[in-house]
Amino acid sequence: MTDKLSITRNQIEAALQAATDLPALEALRVSLLGKSGEITTLLKSLGELPPDERRQAGQAANELRDWATNAITSAKVEITQSQQASALATESIDVTLPGHRRKIGRLHPINTVYAQMEELFTSLGFDVLEGPHVETVYHNFDALNSPHNHPSRDEADTFYFNDNLLLRTHTSPMQVRAMESQKPPIRVVVPGMTYRRDEIDATHTPAFHQMEGLVIDKGVNFGDLKGMLELIVRHVFGPDSRIRLRPSHFPFTEPSAEVDITCYACGGSPTGCRVCKSSGWVELWGCGMVHPNVLKMSGIDPEIYSGYAFGLGVDRITSALYGITDPRLYFENDMQFLGQF
Ligand code: PHE
Repeated sequence: MTDKLSITRNQIEAALQAATDLPALEALRVSLLGKSGEITTLLKSLGELPPDERRQAGQAANELRDWATNAITSAKVEITQSQQASALATESIDVTLPGHRRKIGRLHPINTVYAQMEELFTSLGFDVLEGPHVETVYHNFDALNSPHNHPSRDEADTFYFNDNLLLRTHTSPMQVRAMESQKPPIRVVVPGMTYRRDEIDATHTPAFHQMEGLVIDKGVNFGDLKGMLELIVRHVFGPDSRIRLRPSHFPFTEPSAEVDITCYACGGSPTGCRVCKSSGWVELWGCGMVHPNVLKMSGIDPEIYSGYAFGLGVDRITSALYGITDPRLYFENDMQFLGQF
């Protein structure tokens, strides 16, 4: 009987070594000390022994049971403690470390300028419209009185999808869409991106931002246009800013003009500035009185109504305001650049 017990004790020790987690230890406990566990069965069988052996064997069996119970309990405690220690080492949080500051977003400078101009125009009673970036050749060119041989229609200047669809080269097609869908008096501005096959330089990028304006009413004249241009310039650049109007040509306006402001990079110095190409002036936008053919094609009687239109170059206005000499910066999403505004 004593031999039998000592073998069992060796076996239990080996089993304890092998049980390296809590479920294995619990399984071992059940197999020894559970209702039909080995030690329980042994204790139950003591009654079958002759009385003189029973006492000694009973003592040994009880000791074995107590020893096994203690050994399993302390093995469980040991495993629990070492699991907690390693969790503490790997999952600890150092509350003294500085936190990560969240970067707060802000408006892109182009959008700030758009917002500033929309505020002016809505206060003057204009509606703000947006139009499709993918336009029809009809709205982008034909309805704007652009002859088929006009250079802006060339494949080398315009991103065509097919014979009929292109990336709009200006926001002027929205003049047509506004006249098709509204009756005069019409007062609209159209902010949005426009696209041309331009080489990148100090004043050109293949995508850029315009804001179109259109006013149609009875008796609108060039003086109204000039007054509006001066109002815009004073609103954006301050009361002392100066503009220059240069006669120009656009198929959809007659007469047409280009609006320049004093060069923002060199302040008008005549010596070699790449932004104004040493002229001292920077072209900001085109404008003119809406051509009678354009009014007619969109169903407005040029005998009754007249109007003016302008297309503001928003990238250049933004550059002028903030002294930015490389328009690529508007498209690069560089946080060091954008974070300054
Ligand atoms: N659409 C012209 C351009 O992109 C600008 C313009 C708009 C000119 C309205 C006259 C009237 O160059």
